[in-house]
Amino acid sequence: MKVLILGSGGREHALAWAVKRSEKVAEVVCAPGNGGMAEIARCVPVDLKNLDGMVRVALDEQPGLTIVGPELPLSLGIVDALQERGLRVFGPTKAAAMLESSKGFAKRFLQRHNIPTANYAVCTTADELEKAVEIFHPPIVVKADGLAAGKGVLICESRRTAMEAAQGLFTGALLGEAERQVVIEEFLAGDEISFLCLSDGKSVAPLVPAQDHKRIGEGDTGPNTGGMGVYSTDTLLEPGMREWILHHIAEPTIQGMAEEDTPFVGVLYCGLMMTARGPQVLEFNARFGDPETQAILLRLESDLVEALEACIDGRLAQTELRWFQGASACVVASSSGYPGSYKTGYPISGLSAAARVPGVQVFHSGSAQLGNQIVTGGGRVLGVTAVAASLEEALDRAYQAVAEIQFEGIYYRRDIGHRALRRTL
Ligand code: AMP
Ligand code: GLY
Repeated sequence: MKVLILGSGGREHALAWAVKRSEKVAEVVCAPGNGGMAEIARCVPVDLKNLDGMVRVALDEQPGLTIVGPELPLSLGIVDALQERGLRVFGPTKAAAMLESSKGFAKRFLQRHNIPTANYAVCTTADELEKAVEIFHPPIVVKADGLAAGKGVLICESRRTAMEAAQGLFTGALLGEAERQVVIEEFLAGDEISFLCLSDGKSVAPLVPAQDHKRIGEGDTGPNTGGMGVYSTDTLLEPGMREWILHHIAEPTIQGMAEEDTPFVGVLYCGLMMTARGPQVLEFNARFGDPETQAILLRLESDLVEALEACIDGRLAQTELRWFQGASACVVASSSGYPGSYKTGYPISGLSAAARVPGVQVFHSGSAQLGNQIVTGGGRVLGVTAVAASLEEALDRAYQAVAEIQFEGIYYRRDIGHRALRRTL
Protein backbone atom coordinates (compact mmCIF):
# COMPACT_ATOMS: atom_id res chain seq x y z
CA MET A 1 0.00 0.00 0.00
CA LYS A 2 0.99 3.59 -0.62
CA VAL A 3 0.54 5.97 2.33
CA LEU A 4 0.31 9.75 1.99
CA ILE A 5 1.20 11.87 5.02
CA LEU A 6 0.14 15.53 5.07
CA GLY A 7 2.42 17.81 7.09
CA SER A 8 6.00 19.00 7.46
CA GLY A 9 6.93 18.72 11.13
CA GLY A 10 8.51 16.33 13.61
CA ARG A 11 5.17 14.67 14.22
CA GLU A 12 4.88 13.82 10.53
CA HIS A 13 8.49 12.60 10.35
CA ALA A 14 7.73 10.25 13.27
CA LEU A 15 4.51 9.11 11.56
CA ALA A 16 6.42 8.46 8.32
CA TRP A 17 9.06 6.49 10.24
CA ALA A 18 6.42 4.36 12.01
CA VAL A 19 4.36 3.85 8.83
CA LYS A 20 7.46 2.70 6.92
CA ARG A 21 8.00 -0.07 9.46
CA SER A 22 4.60 -1.58 8.65
CA GLU A 23 4.63 -4.74 6.54
CA LYS A 24 1.57 -3.42 4.74
CA VAL A 25 3.37 -0.38 3.35
CA ALA A 26 5.28 -0.30 0.06
CA GLU A 27 5.66 3.45 -0.37
CA VAL A 28 5.41 6.59 1.76
CA VAL A 29 4.73 10.00 0.21
CA CYS A 30 4.94 13.16 2.32
CA ALA A 31 3.31 16.43 1.35
CA PRO A 32 5.12 18.72 1.71
CA GLY A 33 7.51 16.88 4.11
CA ASN A 34 10.90 18.22 5.21
CA GLY A 35 14.62 17.45 4.96
CA GLY A 36 14.36 14.47 7.32
CA MET A 37 11.33 12.99 5.64
CA ALA A 38 13.00 13.33 2.25
CA GLU A 39 15.56 10.74 3.42
CA ILE A 40 12.92 8.06 4.05
CA ALA A 41 10.05 9.03 1.73
CA ARG A 42 9.20 10.85 -1.48
CA CYS A 43 8.18 14.45 -0.83
CA VAL A 44 5.79 16.41 -3.02
CA PRO A 45 5.06 20.13 -2.63
CA VAL A 46 1.70 21.23 -1.25
CA ASP A 47 0.28 24.23 0.58
CA LEU A 48 -1.35 22.98 3.80
CA LYS A 49 -3.63 26.04 3.81
CA ASN A 50 -5.06 25.19 0.38
CA LEU A 51 -7.78 22.53 0.45
CA ASP A 52 -8.01 22.16 -3.34
CA GLY A 53 -4.24 21.79 -3.62
CA MET A 54 -4.18 19.02 -1.02
CA VAL A 55 -7.07 17.21 -2.71
CA ARG A 56 -5.20 17.42 -6.05
CA VAL A 57 -2.11 15.79 -4.54
CA ALA A 58 -4.22 12.99 -3.08
CA LEU A 59 -6.05 12.43 -6.38
CA ASP A 60 -2.71 12.34 -8.27
CA GLU A 61 -1.10 9.96 -5.82
CA GLN A 62 -4.14 7.70 -5.19
CA PRO A 63 -2.81 6.51 -1.80
CA GLY A 64 -4.39 3.53 -0.04
CA LEU A 65 -4.33 5.60 3.13
CA THR A 66 -3.88 9.31 3.87
CA ILE A 67 -2.84 10.46 7.36
CA VAL A 68 -3.45 14.10 8.24
CA GLY A 69 -0.85 15.52 10.64
CA PRO A 70 -1.72 19.15 11.50
CA GLU A 71 -4.94 20.81 12.65
CA LEU A 72 -5.35 23.33 9.83
CA PRO A 73 -6.19 20.86 7.03
CA LEU A 74 -8.61 19.10 9.40
CA SER A 75 -10.39 22.36 10.17
CA LEU A 76 -10.60 23.10 6.43
CA GLY A 77 -12.37 19.78 5.90
CA ILE A 78 -9.66 17.71 4.17
CA VAL A 79 -11.11 14.47 5.59
CA ASP A 80 -14.60 15.21 4.25
CA ALA A 81 -13.13 16.22 0.88
CA LEU A 82 -11.07 13.02 0.48
CA GLN A 83 -13.89 10.78 1.72
CA GLU A 84 -16.24 12.32 -0.85
CA ARG A 85 -13.75 11.28 -3.53
CA GLY A 86 -13.64 7.72 -2.27
CA LEU A 87 -10.20 7.93 -0.62
CA ARG A 88 -9.38 6.34 2.74
CA VAL A 89 -8.20 8.94 5.19
CA PHE A 90 -7.34 8.90 8.90
CA GLY A 91 -8.58 11.91 10.85
CA PRO A 92 -11.80 13.59 12.02
CA THR A 93 -14.28 15.35 9.74
CA LYS A 94 -14.50 19.14 9.82
CA ALA A 95 -17.49 18.92 12.19
CA ALA A 96 -15.69 16.55 14.59
CA ALA A 97 -12.47 18.60 14.44
CA MET A 98 -14.45 21.47 16.01
CA LEU A 99 -13.34 19.97 19.34
CA GLU A 100 -10.03 21.65 18.51
CA SER A 101 -10.94 24.38 16.04
CA SER A 102 -13.44 26.15 18.33
CA LYS A 103 -12.67 26.43 22.04
CA GLY A 104 -16.21 27.77 22.61
CA PHE A 105 -17.64 24.62 20.99
CA ALA A 106 -15.34 22.40 23.06
CA LYS A 107 -16.23 24.10 26.36
CA ARG A 108 -19.98 23.89 25.72
CA PHE A 109 -19.61 20.28 24.63
CA LEU A 110 -17.70 19.44 27.83
CA GLN A 111 -20.39 21.09 29.94
CA ARG A 112 -23.25 19.36 28.06
CA HIS A 113 -21.65 16.01 28.74
CA ASN A 114 -20.52 16.64 32.32
CA ILE A 115 -16.86 16.13 31.49
CA PRO A 116 -14.57 17.88 34.00
CA THR A 117 -13.10 21.18 32.80
CA ALA A 118 -12.37 24.66 34.17
CA ASN A 119 -15.35 27.00 34.74
CA TYR A 120 -15.75 29.34 31.82
CA ALA A 121 -17.77 31.91 29.92
CA VAL A 122 -17.92 32.23 26.12
CA CYS A 123 -18.20 35.92 25.21
CA THR A 124 -19.11 37.47 21.88
CA THR A 125 -19.48 41.14 22.93
CA ALA A 126 -17.54 43.61 25.09
CA ASP A 127 -20.52 43.74 27.43
CA GLU A 128 -20.53 39.96 28.00
CA LEU A 129 -16.81 40.14 28.47
CA GLU A 130 -17.00 42.77 31.17
CA LYS A 131 -19.62 40.79 33.10
CA ALA A 132 -17.64 37.56 32.82
CA VAL A 133 -14.34 39.07 33.89
CA GLU A 134 -16.00 40.52 37.00
CA ILE A 135 -17.00 37.12 38.38
CA PHE A 136 -13.66 35.33 37.94
CA HIS A 137 -10.84 35.75 40.42
CA PRO A 138 -7.40 36.48 38.94
CA PRO A 139 -5.35 34.93 37.51
CA ILE A 140 -7.89 34.79 34.69
CA VAL A 141 -7.30 32.71 31.58
CA VAL A 142 -8.30 34.33 28.28
CA LYS A 143 -8.45 32.16 25.17
CA ALA A 144 -9.00 32.80 21.50
CA ASP A 145 -11.82 30.67 20.13
CA GLY A 146 -10.04 29.59 16.96
CA LEU A 147 -6.76 27.88 16.03
CA ALA A 148 -3.82 29.97 17.19
CA ALA A 149 -0.76 27.67 17.01
CA GLY A 150 -0.18 27.82 20.77
CA LYS A 151 -0.43 31.62 20.93
CA GLY A 152 -4.12 31.86 21.79
CA VAL A 153 -3.97 31.47 25.58
CA LEU A 154 -3.20 34.40 27.89
CA ILE A 155 -2.90 34.03 31.64
CA CYS A 156 -3.77 37.43 33.12
CA GLU A 157 -2.86 38.57 36.63
CA SER A 158 -5.62 41.17 36.92
CA ARG A 159 -9.15 41.84 35.64
CA ARG A 160 -7.81 44.88 33.80
CA THR A 161 -5.18 42.90 31.88
CA ALA A 162 -7.76 40.17 31.19
CA MET A 163 -10.09 42.79 29.66
CA GLU A 164 -7.23 44.20 27.59
CA ALA A 165 -6.19 40.74 26.38
CA ALA A 166 -9.74 39.79 25.41
CA GLN A 167 -10.21 43.08 23.59
CA GLY A 168 -6.93 42.49 21.78
CA LEU A 169 -8.33 39.14 20.59
CA PHE A 170 -11.62 40.70 19.49
CA THR A 171 -9.92 43.45 17.50
CA GLY A 172 -7.26 41.21 15.99
CA ALA A 173 -4.46 43.26 17.60
CA LEU A 174 -3.08 40.13 19.31
CA LEU A 175 -3.29 37.37 16.72
CA GLY A 176 -3.69 39.30 13.48
CA GLU A 177 -7.14 37.93 12.88
CA ALA A 178 -10.18 39.17 14.84
CA GLU A 179 -11.85 36.53 17.02
CA ARG A 180 -15.62 36.23 16.97
CA GLN A 181 -15.71 34.62 20.42
CA VAL A 182 -13.37 34.68 23.39
CA VAL A 183 -13.35 32.16 26.23
CA ILE A 184 -12.76 33.42 29.78
CA GLU A 185 -11.68 30.63 32.07
CA GLU A 186 -10.79 29.75 35.62
CA PHE A 187 -7.05 29.27 36.20
CA LEU A 188 -6.12 25.68 37.02
CA ALA A 189 -2.96 24.72 38.89
CA GLY A 190 -1.26 21.34 38.58
CA ASP A 191 0.81 19.08 36.34
CA GLU A 192 -0.15 18.82 32.68
CA ILE A 193 -0.54 15.47 30.93
CA SER A 194 -1.05 14.76 27.25
CA PHE A 195 -3.51 11.86 27.07
CA LEU A 196 -3.91 10.76 23.46
CA CYS A 197 -6.33 8.09 22.25
CA LEU A 198 -7.23 6.52 18.96
CA SER A 199 -10.93 6.29 18.20
CA ASP A 200 -13.08 4.72 15.50
CA GLY A 201 -16.02 6.85 16.55
CA LYS A 202 -17.25 4.27 19.07
CA SER A 203 -14.36 2.79 21.05
CA VAL A 204 -11.27 4.35 22.51
CA ALA A 205 -7.71 2.97 22.60
CA PRO A 206 -5.38 5.05 24.76
CA LEU A 207 -1.81 5.64 23.66
CA VAL A 208 0.92 5.77 26.32
CA PRO A 209 0.72 9.04 28.30
CA ALA A 210 3.22 11.86 27.78
CA GLN A 211 4.25 15.13 29.35
CA ASP A 212 5.14 18.10 27.17
CA HIS A 213 7.35 21.09 28.10
CA LYS A 214 5.71 24.10 26.49
CA ARG A 215 7.83 26.96 27.78
CA ILE A 216 11.05 27.95 26.05
CA GLY A 217 13.13 28.25 29.22
CA GLU A 218 14.46 25.77 31.75
CA GLY A 219 12.32 25.45 34.89
CA ASP A 220 9.24 26.14 32.71
CA THR A 221 9.93 29.85 32.29
CA GLY A 222 9.51 32.29 29.42
CA PRO A 223 7.05 32.30 26.53
CA ASN A 224 5.02 29.34 25.31
CA THR A 225 6.27 27.36 22.32
CA GLY A 226 4.92 24.50 20.25
CA GLY A 227 6.69 22.16 22.72
CA MET A 228 10.39 21.96 23.64
CA GLY A 229 10.51 18.32 24.68
CA VAL A 230 8.44 15.49 26.00
CA TYR A 231 8.74 12.18 27.76
CA SER A 232 6.58 9.13 28.17
CA THR A 233 6.75 6.55 30.96
CA ASP A 234 4.40 3.90 32.29
CA THR A 235 4.51 5.55 35.70
CA LEU A 236 3.32 8.97 34.49
CA LEU A 237 -0.22 7.83 35.34
CA GLU A 238 -1.14 5.30 38.03
CA PRO A 239 -3.39 2.53 36.60
CA GLY A 240 -6.43 3.79 38.58
CA MET A 241 -5.97 7.33 37.32
CA ARG A 242 -5.59 6.11 33.74
CA GLU A 243 -8.85 4.17 34.01
CA TRP A 244 -10.61 7.20 35.53
CA ILE A 245 -9.50 9.46 32.68
CA LEU A 246 -10.59 6.86 30.15
CA HIS A 247 -14.06 6.42 31.70
CA HIS A 248 -14.76 10.03 32.70
CA ILE A 249 -13.07 11.99 29.93
CA ALA A 250 -12.08 10.08 26.77
CA GLU A 251 -15.01 7.66 26.48
CA PRO A 252 -17.75 10.21 27.29
CA THR A 253 -16.22 12.56 24.70
CA ILE A 254 -16.34 9.93 21.96
CA GLN A 255 -19.83 8.85 23.04
CA GLY A 256 -21.04 12.47 23.15
CA MET A 257 -19.71 13.19 19.66
CA ALA A 258 -21.45 10.04 18.34
CA GLU A 259 -24.73 11.04 20.02
CA GLU A 260 -24.52 14.45 18.39
CA ASP A 261 -24.07 12.87 14.93
CA THR A 262 -20.50 14.07 14.57
CA PRO A 263 -18.64 10.83 15.34
CA PHE A 264 -14.96 11.45 16.04
CA VAL A 265 -12.62 9.15 14.12
CA GLY A 266 -8.93 9.90 14.56
CA VAL A 267 -6.67 10.88 17.43
CA LEU A 268 -8.37 12.56 20.36
CA TYR A 269 -5.67 14.45 22.24
CA CYS A 270 -6.90 15.35 25.73
CA GLY A 271 -4.73 18.10 27.25
CA LEU A 272 -5.30 17.56 30.97
CA MET A 273 -4.42 19.46 34.13
CA MET A 274 -4.03 17.17 37.13
CA THR A 275 -5.61 19.40 39.79
CA ALA A 276 -6.54 19.08 43.47
CA ARG A 277 -10.06 18.16 42.36
CA GLY A 278 -8.91 15.59 39.80
CA PRO A 279 -8.04 15.71 36.11
CA GLN A 280 -9.65 18.57 34.15
CA VAL A 281 -9.68 19.05 30.38
CA LEU A 282 -7.61 22.11 29.39
CA GLU A 283 -8.16 21.60 25.70
CA PHE A 284 -8.77 19.01 23.03
CA ASN A 285 -6.69 18.55 19.93
CA ALA A 286 -8.11 16.58 17.03
CA ARG A 287 -4.74 15.17 15.93
CA PHE A 288 -1.45 13.69 17.12
CA GLY A 289 0.60 16.03 19.33
CA ASP A 290 3.95 17.48 18.40
CA PRO A 291 6.41 16.53 19.98
CA GLU A 292 4.31 13.92 21.87
CA THR A 293 4.07 11.72 18.76
CA GLN A 294 7.85 11.44 18.47
CA ALA A 295 8.11 9.99 22.01
CA ILE A 296 4.91 7.94 21.82
CA LEU A 297 5.61 6.22 18.48
CA LEU A 298 9.08 5.20 19.59
CA ARG A 299 7.34 3.12 22.26
CA LEU A 300 4.79 1.53 19.90
CA GLU A 301 5.55 -2.12 19.25
CA SER A 302 2.48 -3.04 17.18
CA ASP A 303 1.71 -1.89 13.63
CA LEU A 304 0.60 1.76 13.42
CA VAL A 305 -1.03 1.36 10.00
CA GLU A 306 -3.05 -1.60 11.22
CA ALA A 307 -4.34 0.52 14.15
CA LEU A 308 -5.21 3.54 11.97
CA GLU A 309 -7.02 1.34 9.46
CA ALA A 310 -8.98 -0.26 12.32
CA CYS A 311 -10.17 3.25 13.25
CA ILE A 312 -11.32 3.96 9.69
CA ASP A 313 -13.08 0.58 9.48
CA GLY A 314 -14.79 0.87 12.88
CA ARG A 315 -13.07 -2.19 14.35
CA LEU A 316 -10.77 -0.63 16.93
CA ALA A 317 -12.31 -2.72 19.75
CA GLN A 318 -10.84 -5.86 18.13
CA THR A 319 -7.38 -4.34 17.68
CA GLU A 320 -4.64 -4.49 20.27
CA LEU A 321 -1.98 -1.82 20.67
CA ARG A 322 1.25 -3.20 22.09
CA TRP A 323 3.91 -1.00 23.70
CA PHE A 324 7.51 -1.34 24.76
CA GLN A 325 7.71 -1.06 28.53
CA GLY A 326 10.09 1.54 29.86
CA ALA A 327 10.34 5.11 28.69
CA SER A 328 11.08 7.50 25.89
CA ALA A 329 12.12 11.12 25.73
CA CYS A 330 12.36 13.77 23.04
CA VAL A 331 14.59 16.86 23.29
CA VAL A 332 13.73 19.58 20.80
CA ALA A 333 16.62 21.57 19.33
CA SER A 334 15.43 24.98 18.16
CA SER A 335 16.78 28.00 16.30
CA SER A 336 18.09 30.91 18.36
CA GLY A 337 15.28 33.46 18.80
CA TYR A 338 12.41 30.96 18.69
CA PRO A 339 9.48 31.36 19.58
CA GLY A 340 10.18 34.92 18.40
CA SER A 341 11.85 35.61 15.06
CA TYR A 342 14.78 33.46 13.92
CA LYS A 343 16.90 32.84 10.85
CA THR A 344 16.99 29.63 8.81
CA GLY A 345 19.25 28.02 6.23
CA TYR A 346 22.14 27.09 8.57
CA PRO A 347 23.84 23.75 7.83
CA ILE A 348 23.17 20.99 10.37
CA SER A 349 26.03 18.61 11.19
CA GLY A 350 26.39 15.57 13.42
CA LEU A 351 23.10 13.93 12.42
CA SER A 352 24.70 10.53 11.68
CA ALA A 353 26.70 10.52 14.91
CA ALA A 354 23.52 11.34 16.85
CA ALA A 355 21.58 8.56 15.14
CA ARG A 356 24.31 6.04 16.13
CA VAL A 357 23.53 6.47 19.84
CA PRO A 358 21.57 3.31 20.84
CA GLY A 359 17.78 3.74 20.93
CA VAL A 360 17.91 7.15 19.24
CA GLN A 361 15.88 8.48 16.31
CA VAL A 362 16.39 12.05 15.14
CA PHE A 363 13.09 13.44 13.84
CA HIS A 364 13.22 16.66 11.84
CA SER A 365 10.73 19.40 12.74
CA GLY A 366 11.98 22.22 10.55
CA SER A 367 14.71 21.30 8.07
CA ALA A 368 15.27 21.39 4.35
CA GLN A 369 17.58 19.69 1.87
CA LEU A 370 19.90 22.05 0.04
CA GLY A 371 21.89 19.96 -2.43
CA ASN A 372 23.54 17.30 -0.28
CA GLN A 373 23.29 19.37 2.87
CA ILE A 374 20.51 19.41 5.47
CA VAL A 375 19.87 22.96 6.69
CA THR A 376 17.65 24.51 9.36
CA GLY A 377 14.21 25.46 8.12
CA GLY A 378 12.08 26.35 11.13
CA GLY A 379 11.89 27.48 14.75
CA ARG A 380 11.85 23.96 16.07
CA VAL A 381 14.49 22.16 14.02
CA LEU A 382 14.97 18.63 15.39
CA GLY A 383 13.34 16.32 17.92
CA VAL A 384 16.09 14.07 19.22
CA THR A 385 14.17 11.10 20.58
CA ALA A 386 15.35 8.04 22.52
CA VAL A 387 13.78 4.93 23.97
CA ALA A 388 15.22 2.91 26.88
CA ALA A 389 14.32 0.76 29.86
CA SER A 390 14.13 3.76 32.20
CA LEU A 391 13.43 7.46 31.85
CA GLU A 392 16.91 8.32 33.15
CA GLU A 393 18.48 6.20 30.43
CA ALA A 394 16.17 7.54 27.70
CA LEU A 395 17.10 11.10 28.70
CA ASP A 396 20.82 10.23 28.85
CA ARG A 397 20.64 8.82 25.33
CA ALA A 398 18.68 11.78 23.95
CA TYR A 399 21.09 14.30 25.51
CA GLN A 400 24.13 12.31 24.38
CA ALA A 401 22.74 12.39 20.83
CA VAL A 402 21.79 16.08 20.81
CA ALA A 403 25.33 16.92 21.98
CA GLU A 404 26.61 15.47 18.67
CA ILE A 405 24.54 17.95 16.65
CA GLN A 406 25.62 21.42 15.63
CA PHE A 407 24.01 24.31 13.80
CA GLU A 408 24.33 28.04 14.20
CA GLY A 409 22.35 29.19 17.26
CA ILE A 410 21.25 25.70 18.41
CA TYR A 411 19.23 25.87 21.64
CA TYR A 412 17.60 23.12 23.71
CA ARG A 413 16.31 22.79 27.25
CA ARG A 414 18.55 20.74 29.50
CA ASP A 415 15.80 19.84 31.98
CA ILE A 416 13.36 17.72 29.95
CA GLY A 417 11.72 15.23 32.33
CA HIS A 418 12.46 17.32 35.41
CA ARG A 419 9.00 16.81 36.92
CA ALA A 420 9.23 13.03 36.70
CA LEU A 421 12.81 12.92 37.96
CA ARG A 422 11.90 15.08 40.96
CA ARG A 423 9.01 12.79 41.81
CA THR A 424 11.19 9.68 41.84
CA LEU A 425 13.94 11.29 43.98
P1 AMP B 1 -4.03 25.37 24.96
O1 AMP B 1 -3.68 26.17 23.74
O2 AMP B 1 -5.47 25.39 25.32
O3 AMP B 1 -3.32 24.08 25.00
O4 AMP B 1 -3.33 26.13 26.16
C1 AMP B 1 -1.96 26.34 26.15
C2 AMP B 1 -1.44 26.23 27.54
O5 AMP B 1 -2.04 27.23 28.38
C3 AMP B 1 -1.81 24.92 28.23
O6 AMP B 1 -0.94 23.91 27.87
C4 AMP B 1 -1.66 25.32 29.67
O7 AMP B 1 -0.30 25.33 30.05
C5 AMP B 1 -2.16 26.74 29.69
N1 AMP B 1 -3.57 26.78 30.08
C6 AMP B 1 -4.66 26.67 29.30
N2 AMP B 1 -5.80 26.74 30.01
C7 AMP B 1 -5.43 26.91 31.31
C8 AMP B 1 -6.14 27.03 32.54
N3 AMP B 1 -7.48 27.04 32.59
N4 AMP B 1 -5.41 27.17 33.65
C9 AMP B 1 -4.06 27.19 33.62
N5 AMP B 1 -3.33 27.07 32.50
C10 AMP B 1 -4.00 26.93 31.35
N1 GLY C 1 2.47 19.54 22.03
C1 GLY C 1 1.26 20.26 21.98
C2 GLY C 1 0.47 20.10 20.77
O1 GLY C 1 0.73 19.27 19.92
O2 GLY C 1 -0.51 20.82 20.61
